[in-house]
Amino acid sequence: MTNAGGSNEAFGVYVHWPFCLSKCPYCDFNSHVRHAAIDEDRFARAFLREIETTAQRIGHREVTSIFLGGGTPSLMQPQTVGAILDAIGKNWRVASDVEVTLEANPTSVEATRFAGYRAAGVNRVSLGVQALDDTSLKALGRLHSAREALDAVAIARRSFERYSFDLIYAREHQTAQMWTEELTLAIREAAEHLSLYQLTIEEGTPFFALHAAGKIKTPDEALARELYDVTQEVCDRHGLGAYEISNHARGGAECRHNLVYWRAHEYAGIGPGAHGRLDIGGTRHATSTEKRPEAWLMRVEANGHGLAVDDGLNSEERADEFLLMGLRLAEGIDPRRYTALSGRPLDPRRIALLREEGAISVDDQGRLRVTQAGFPVLDAVVADLAA
Ligand SMILES: C[S@@+](CC[C@H](N)C(=O)[O-])C[C@H]1O[C@@H](n2cnc3c(N)ncnc32)[C@H](O)[C@@H]1O
Ligand code: SF4
Repeated sequence: MTNAGGSNEAFGVYVHWPFCLSKCPYCDFNSHVRHAAIDEDRFARAFLREIETTAQRIGHREVTSIFLGGGTPSLMQPQTVGAILDAIGKNWRVASDVEVTLEANPTSVEATRFAGYRAAGVNRVSLGVQALDDTSLKALGRLHSAREALDAVAIARRSFERYSFDLIYAREHQTAQMWTEELTLAIREAAEHLSLYQLTIEEGTPFFALHAAGKIKTPDEALARELYDVTQEVCDRHGLGAYEISNHARGGAECRHNLVYWRAHEYAGIGPGAHGRLDIGGTRHATSTEKRPEAWLMRVEANGHGLAVDDGLNSEERADEFLLMGLRLAEGIDPRRYTALSGRPLDPRRIALLREEGAISVDDQGRLRVTQAGFPVLDAVVADLAA
């Protein structure tokens, strides 16, 4: 697959649907609840317009992955999804093996749309299951039961060649034994891919206030570490090793779209609050659009795009981003690419020190990887290397 400039890098398109039926108390994604009906056709027209404007700006590319994320994209009508995919196909060339993922909430209503999404061109779904017991789902503010989530997984299995689901662990009252059992059950229901996120208490969310007031307790460091280790052990045992800090897949079943981010390739961000990384005139641009859905809509209607940020990255920033994203991956990074981006190599003394501590390894080809022991302290490792 080749892209602009003759490179063989992947090119992804991310499309953000910013609405949800209710706001989960732990979530700080750009998601909004509207009590009045949403003018979906108007939003669809704006998506099409922003796709066209972005394509005119960056020119030819071959799209290797598309990700419809949210919010809750499974609230979109299949015809809206179809129109978005058609617009991408009209404005760029699309690889014959393009991966098209749609994020879905596992309620029965949404699962009824799966056949329509498939007909529209979606070939992979990612379901937000979050937990497999009803008490935890209730505590997480979810609108679905465990049974409903598993039914949605079964419909996904019948409807798509590829599916994944998300679980959140390190929840209140969760022991290593409970998580082992839940994860084992999840793996039985999974096919090729699972995303397993440790609960993060995000500032500004209801969970943040409850946590600060001592009304929600999250695991202490030792238990969090134990839960992380259980995750790796159970998944490894079942052939679902981590290819990224929170993502597990059988060989070859990695989410290609997410690899675009972590390998620091190029992607366009469409929709409210979507981020992009675009190479324009030899410079990597970091873009993001207006986050508020209706404000974004009006901007697109007036200007053809909803861009709020459009910054050219200097070589240092690009190199740091490459390091930050790449070290999340089990495959690690090629330090030569870091040198090419920043104009200077990583500090060999820091590499030696981190190797001695067992936080990173370097293989025969020179690839640098964070070790199992280093992953729980990934931020510190990256900060050390980038310093
Ligand atoms: C953009 S969300 C969307 C998925 C979909 N709307 C849903 O909730 O089913 C992607 C995933 O991020 C994870 N997530 C969101 N907030 C989180 C938090 N505070 N801590 C850990 N994981 C979180 C959840 O597993 C969620 O499925
Ligand atoms: S977790 Fe998903 S459903 Fe819940 S508010 Fe966030 S984006 Fe919406």
